Amino acid sequence: MDVHRTESTRQRLIDVLKTQERFDIRLRAIDEADDYDTTMGVETSEPVEPWETGKASDFTLEHHMRYSPTPVRTIRRVLQACDVRFEDVSFVDFGCGKGRVLLVAAEFPFRKVIGVEYAQELAETARSNIRRARPDGRRCHDLEVSVQDAAEFLVPPDAGVCYFYEPFSATVAEKVVRNIEESVVRHPRKVVGCLVGRGLPAQDGWDGGASRVGAVLRGRRGWSLARSIASPDDPYYDAWLFTTGGERRGAA
Ligand SMILES: C[S@@+](CC[C@H](N)C(=O)[O-])C[C@H]1O[C@@H](n2cnc3c(N)ncnc32)[C@H](O)[C@@H]1O
Repeated sequence: MDVHRTESTRQRLIDVLKTQERFDIRLRAIDEADDYDTTMGVETSEPVEPWETGKASDFTLEHHMRYSPTPVRTIRRVLQACDVRFEDVSFVDFGCGKGRVLLVAAEFPFRKVIGVEYAQELAETARSNIRRARPDGRRCHDLEVSVQDAAEFLVPPDAGVCYFYEPFSATVAEKVVRNIEESVVRHPRKVVGCLVGRGLPAQDGWDGGASRVGAVLRGRRGWSLARSIASPDDPYYDAWLFTTGGERRGAA
């Protein structure tokens, strides 16, 4: 047995866990300041590890990320920056978890707000949150949660804003992006891809500032980086907007 290798693997795992602990403490402070869950009567704050859901397998443990919500102010800032007519398009959150992004997206007059989530328990929580949430300020009333692997999701012809907060690996993202591209070929239109976050801790440590979905879209034919958005909550939640067939705009 290679003792040095075992030691360095152990140290790397400890570093990842410590990083994750610091990350969760920071998120808790942001969420407590926002008080979104209490105000809305929902539960979206508590992170959930992939092995806590009934569907954990070797593949999901490697390619699917944990549930952890985007801070509310960041979601609003990102959606406000989307250069689309909300009334004309549907919104999709790929990996919607407990549905916080769906509830905030429904503050905008989208035609429809759709969440895709592979973990049944999380999808059920999202549905229950949608039922329970105070309806004040809701401008879209057509919300739906689909329980399935995002890679299998049939992209609706009017999907105009696709949201990703570090949901899965580049392998899964490649399939999802291909599905969006095929939908755009069949129904030509502009799609805004919102990529939030600088990368969650992986088994081998931080990604070093590179979102996994971003790694798929960066420099990809047919997509251009429209703008970057500084998160009002923490630089970790900075976002990048990519568009199909859209005009290039300067970084924010
Ligand atoms: C970092 S959380 C983001 C949650 C939510 N979008 C937000 O920003 O508040 C990622 C979510 O993606 C889900 N997920 C991971 N892989 C997935 C896949 N292949 N298909 C659908 N959902 C997936 C996880 O279960 C988790 O709920």
